[in-house]
Amino acid sequence: MNAASPFHYQVIRSQTIKTSTEREAILASPGFGKYFTDHMVAVEWDKDHGWHDAQVRPYGPLQLDPATSVLHYGQEVFEGIKGYRHADGSIWTFRPEANGARFQRSAHRLALPELPVSEFVESLRQLTAIDVDWVPSADETSLYFRPFMIASAAVLGVRSAHKASYYLIASPSGPYFSKGVAPVSIWLSTEYSRAGRGGTGAAKCGGNYAASLLPQQEAHAQGCSQVLFLDDIEQKYLEELGGMNICLVYKNGTLVTPELSGSILEGITRDSILQLARDRGIQVVERRITLDEWREGAASGEISEAFACGTAAVITPIAELKGPEFSIGAPDTPAGELTMSLRKELTDIQYGRIPDPHGWMVPLVPAR
Ligand code: PLP
Ligand code: COI
Repeated sequence: MNAASPFHYQVIRSQTIKTSTEREAILASPGFGKYFTDHMVAVEWDKDHGWHDAQVRPYGPLQLDPATSVLHYGQEVFEGIKGYRHADGSIWTFRPEANGARFQRSAHRLALPELPVSEFVESLRQLTAIDVDWVPSADETSLYFRPFMIASAAVLGVRSAHKASYYLIASPSGPYFSKGVAPVSIWLSTEYSRAGRGGTGAAKCGGNYAASLLPQQEAHAQGCSQVLFLDDIEQKYLEELGGMNICLVYKNGTLVTPELSGSILEGITRDSILQLARDRGIQVVERRITLDEWREGAASGEISEAFACGTAAVITPIAELKGPEFSIGAPDTPAGELTMSLRKELTDIQYGRIPDPHGWMVPLVPAR
């Protein structure tokens, strides 16, 4: 047990871990979220006993009663956070307390128990310690952690969770988009909204992503890799993409991003980029942005860059926005200068290549 953790982790080592040859073959070309490490974390919770039975155990299928709440009512929340290998071999993560706090807010919204933030961070440490060889070292690669929690009582009554399970799995990963950091085309969903006022848009819950898949399918059919959603009431203000926040850069250097409306996810990448931009003396504005403003600004040259940001996507330049009857930009629009320089600064901090002025990096495993 780690002295910092009140959880007594039982560690059960896998008897069937991948060989180093198998692992190295995966790490050489990991893709995104396709392969998983040898172990996982599981922690149980119930109303009477609180959090208990913390385990690091072999990665493997969950056995669930067919009546388990999550299977019927979608009571699930998750996070996305990465582990980065630095040049000396040490493994670090980025602002885990922010993800832990968001995980609590998501859990609260879905009537699930709140995992203490210190335990969220401890679970990352526990898993990384045992699966440290799974953290890739090539450029643009990381160990993508997927913490998640489900309502695990076998009962069909619709109610707040009386029983829940927290899990953490990890996947060695390369860039989220198959073309790497190349500019992407995105599709404007005019028929569907991602979230509504008072709904779960600000929570990171599986249901939001399920709701985005039909429009996402439409996007793919249009040759686009992500969907942009507008606000659900006026269908006029930019909200966010299916799995990323969005930022626009004005010719005068101002960085503008949709304000946190209550229906978009409070991205940690978004927040970090806004901070790095402010540090450079760039004017940062969080406000409502209409689709018309983007269309007109792009046409007049007032808006010079657009990018998507999130843990998986890091910062991805947006080449064009396509809608049913219009488009902004073109598929071959090159990546913007500020976009790429903020991307470089952020990833240089994450990979330990430059100092970390805000104390964002947290060590998980020291250099051997
Ligand atoms: N918005 C949505 C819908 C997301 O899924 C994500 C990814 O996690 C983000 C925004 C960006 O959040 P973060 O930067 O914390 O990863
Ligand atoms: C992340 O960026 O971590 C997410 O959860 C988004 C998802 C599209 C992979």
